Amino acid sequence: MQSSNEGIIDRTTVINTYLKNRQKTQELFALLSSDAYYEQPIPLRHPIVFYEGHIPAFSVNCLLKKGLGLVGIDPELELLFARGIDPSDKQAAQRCGIKTWPDQEIVQDYARSADVAILKALKVSMIESDLNPVLDRGQGVFTILEHEVMHQETLLYMWHRIALRNKECPVEAEFLVNGLVPKREMVRVPKGRVTLGSEIKEIPFGWDNEFPTCIIDDVPAFDIDIYNITNQDYMAFVEAGGYSRPELWSPKGFQRKQVSGFEHPLFWERQGDRWMWRGMFDQFELPASWPVYVTHDEAMAYATWKGMRLPSEVEFHRAAYGTPDNVERYYPWGDTKPDKKRGNFGFQYYDPVPVGSYPDGTSAWGVTDLVGNGWEWTSTVFHGFSGFKAMASYPEYSADFFDGDHFVVKGASPATGHCLIRRSFRNWFRPDYPYAYATFRCVRDA
Ligand SMILES: [Fe+2]
Repeated sequence: MQSSNEGIIDRTTVINTYLKNRQKTQELFALLSSDAYYEQPIPLRHPIVFYEGHIPAFSVNCLLKKGLGLVGIDPELELLFARGIDPSDKQAAQRCGIKTWPDQEIVQDYARSADVAILKALKVSMIESDLNPVLDRGQGVFTILEHEVMHQETLLYMWHRIALRNKECPVEAEFLVNGLVPKREMVRVPKGRVTLGSEIKEIPFGWDNEFPTCIIDDVPAFDIDIYNITNQDYMAFVEAGGYSRPELWSPKGFQRKQVSGFEHPLFWERQGDRWMWRGMFDQFELPASWPVYVTHDEAMAYATWKGMRLPSEVEFHRAAYGTPDNVERYYPWGDTKPDKKRGNFGFQYYDPVPVGSYPDGTSAWGVTDLVGNGWEWTSTVFHGFSGFKAMASYPEYSADFFDGDHFVVKGASPATGHCLIRRSFRNWFRPDYPYAYATFRCVRDA
């Protein structure tokens, strides 16, 4: 048996990370006025109250109960807060709707008790053991830590939808609205090799869809945009009547657009004759140099209009991590760990910044912002790599979404935590999900 002192888990580090995560989550909840607590800013997701209970309840269910065989704290709340929803439409969301949610005090009491129990386990229990797959290589511990960080991003894009009067902007928050719109340029990425995913032993932790390694030897050459598509670029598509030209959209995409009634990106708002950006804490005159945030359907229609297409996951990797000497990097900029000079991620900003603001984050080919400033849509339908095995700590994490109706996004958004910045990390959304911080760039065959 592997003891916790000999494995990859360092108790002091995980305890500090747990505490830091909990504090960050509390700070995010503190941005909202109490009036917003039972609001449901995104109809396809649970109301806000759910998430304050879900994060600790998930940790209890995953690590304490499933991993360590301990009893939980409150079986009813652990059932109520067990799982988020990703239904395909509003009717489906209403079917899983819960009529009465507990008082905030009850939820917060539960969260405090959960923290005490989890911290005790992180201190004294056998949290890394090859006798239980949930604890193998400390999987359960990493699962609860990264799960919370992922939810912090979900919370932020939910908060984005809440009325400005119900949010308070932190004094230290900064905004970079001004920026030159760079000249649109593409760069040739030559034929080469790509490594998707990772081997389990190569990284301390990854989610099941990151394993095993998937090598593609001869990715054909292609041209890729150096900069993300900006609001200014996308405006030309809107003004050209792109939203009423079915030939530019996939048949299903056009149908979805008709149902939603969207005539422009969700983050844009019309005020008189001006276009505005709905920021987290304020409305701005539409910042021309920011990446546009759109759905997969919208991104595809724009690319078609331009006579181009979206990059596949493989092409994204080649552009981000490939090099002229065919040694693949761990990050676009090299192998140095992510820091705030490399991209707009890790909560530096609550909104995007002008494209190309991070010269120290460019890839070997000179492509900017591949990690940060918005997830990047790919044309790849989300599936496991050959040899995929559901993870013991959270078996439904990926497998439930291998339904052909989710697309891979890569990179990171302003609200993506540092721990999720790794080459093998994959995220995914439905093609018409308009709330996420997701942008895109185009490619064409060389
Ligand atoms: Fe969750």
